Amino acid sequence: MGSVSAPRNEPAPNTPYFTPIQNPPAGTALSENPPTLFTPLKIRDVTFQNRIWVAPMCMYSADNGHLTDFHLIHLSAFAYRGASLTIIEAASVLPNGRISPEDAGLWSDSQIAPIQRISTFLHSQNQKLGIQLAHAGRKASTCAPWLLERGKAITATEEVGGWPDDVMGASAIRWGEGYAVPREMSRSDIQGVVEGFREAARRAVQAGVDVIEIHGAHGYLISSFLSPISNRRTDEYGGSFENRIRLLVDVVKAVREVIPEGMPLLVRVSSTEWMEKQAQESWDVESTIRLAKLLPGLGVDLLDVSSGGNNEKQAVTPFNNYQVGIAGRIREELYKAGIKDLLIGAVGMITEAEAAKEIVEKGKGDGLVEIEDENGGIAKADVVLVARQFLREPEWVLRVAYRLGIKVQWPSQYDRGRFVKGSKI
Ligand SMILES: Cc1cc2nc3c(=O)[nH]c(=O)nc-3n(C[C@H](O)[C@H](O)[C@H](O)COP(=O)(O)O)c2cc1C
Repeated sequence: MGSVSAPRNEPAPNTPYFTPIQNPPAGTALSENPPTLFTPLKIRDVTFQNRIWVAPMCMYSADNGHLTDFHLIHLSAFAYRGASLTIIEAASVLPNGRISPEDAGLWSDSQIAPIQRISTFLHSQNQKLGIQLAHAGRKASTCAPWLLERGKAITATEEVGGWPDDVMGASAIRWGEGYAVPREMSRSDIQGVVEGFREAARRAVQAGVDVIEIHGAHGYLISSFLSPISNRRTDEYGGSFENRIRLLVDVVKAVREVIPEGMPLLVRVSSTEWMEKQAQESWDVESTIRLAKLLPGLGVDLLDVSSGGNNEKQAVTPFNNYQVGIAGRIREELYKAGIKDLLIGAVGMITEAEAAKEIVEKGKGDGLVEIEDENGGIAKADVVLVARQFLREPEWVLRVAYRLGIKVQWPSQYDRGRFVKGSKI
């Protein structure tokens, strides 16, 4: 019998267990000339095979800050089905920065291993892992949302693992009903938070994450410092714009100092706190544009444009893609100022394939964008971040590709399950 060489089911490299190599990674376009949504994006040393990212989502399921098997399965489900970046939920840099007692954390070395387990798996699938580093500030020590009654927050007392007497914020102003009254942070509290971010970033690198996002949105600590409504400080961390952004700037510098040069750094902000009509001065899109112009100089690569969350009285009714216009406006202002090295992420109720495609497509001329880059136009954003749609459809990337008529790589094991041409999905 002549020996015929059989093809080998090749193992993924650098993985302590057998799993088939995924090359190219799931979610890579196989069709010629795909739309921008399915073209690669390189940020520093990291290449993403498409422009669809999983936004951070708190699961209120951690064990004293440690991620568990739940998180491994939950995050991996999106990643191995082709999301080019999956971002771990807000992980608190200090114990009192958790939103709920069951929030993720990265204040201790013991929290590295469960993250490393996730990064090892994602890398075995040729996919990328991010983590959002956070401190909840005056919104800390609350109960998981499914425990609330009529949507009102409930303070987590010490009995259920909370720390209502150790909640801190920019000023001693309670967020609203159901929240603890924060103490105004001292200089040493501020230094503790900055060091917390630095140490957590160092641990994240050790855990093998590819990307770090700093949470500066939704009324949590950094966001509450940005706003003149929640920040009434009279020291160098309050008052002027320069003073209110100081905590964010300190945190960005501390994080950038300890992460590799080649690692992308993202910042998420609430681009407006939706208080333009209720307050004389608030954090608004103009403030975000001003901040955005400073970020590339600090080593930030991408601004993730969210909104709201800092005030009980915020006035906004979300509709599909409602934050995307703001992302486009910020990008446009940056281009006008000649700043092209800050990428923009759009997020918020992006649920349709066509919408996702349109957001990152260049030169589509929707009236919002008047200036052009060398390729004849600019998009509203460079990537889309999607949260809830992934909870509904973990295979959303594969569905989007199918709906747009683009052939993409599937996970090899699932190849026989490809959507059947002509079927309605
Ligand atoms: C269950 C859940 C948890 C969330 N947790 C976070 C979080 O940890 N950090 C954050 O910045 N945003 C968080 N968000 C907001 C999402 O990242 C996203 O910005 C928002 O849901 C809008 O996007 P979507 O319409 O695609 O869901 C969360 C949203 C959901 C639904």
